[in-house]
Amino acid sequence: MTSRIPSKILSFCKECAHSLSNLRENQERIEYTQELLPRLLRDTPLFGTILRDLIVKREYPDLNYPTMFDSEFMLYTDPDRLFSMRMFIWEPGAYDPIHDHNSWGVIGPVTGQLEVITYRREDDGSREGYADLIETGRKIILPGDTYFVLPLNTGIHRTGNPGNETIIQVSIYGEAQTTRNHINGFDLELKSVYPIYAPKTKKRLLAQQALNYIEM
Ligand SMILES: [Fe+2]
Repeated sequence: MTSRIPSKILSFCKECAHSLSNLRENQERIEYTQELLPRLLRDTPLFGTILRDLIVKREYPDLNYPTMFDSEFMLYTDPDRLFSMRMFIWEPGAYDPIHDHNSWGVIGPVTGQLEVITYRREDDGSREGYADLIETGRKIILPGDTYFVLPLNTGIHRTGNPGNETIIQVSIYGEAQTTRNHINGFDLELKSVYPIYAPKTKKRLLAQQALNYIEM
């Protein structure tokens, strides 16, 4: 797939990988990425080219990459798993479910306004399937600006598009800080927590459950 990645994305990601590999603390990695990412976010023509090529040539980004969300496109995965870079396309009023991440992340819009709503978990996680969240803030991130999220319970949030145009978000996520094969989704009203699996993982789990029944 390397040959199909636009050269600007490739050189940006190589620079990012080189620097991140020399930084040890999450905080340093976040600060570095927050400095670097706006350069890419301001390159609207590059994203115009990516979207035009995606519609016409259908080669990049790889539409078969099994992302968690339908609105998500994988732009780059670092061969040493130091980070990944993803694009999200949000229609007017579209938001992802409240969720956490397995890593730190730096996110920002290329176009439009991106809303980030943050939550704090009030329960201790000891009750299976139960989670009590309270909203802690709402922020509008403008093109060229970024926002960072922290892993697991320290970074529970949802993002989306409060405006009237379809917008582009780019996210860089660091290496996984957990061996979990899912992220957590949360329902504020039902006070519940549930796993969100990537499609391939979900299919293997379903197959395993059906097999357990056959073998019973
Ligand atoms: Fe997120």
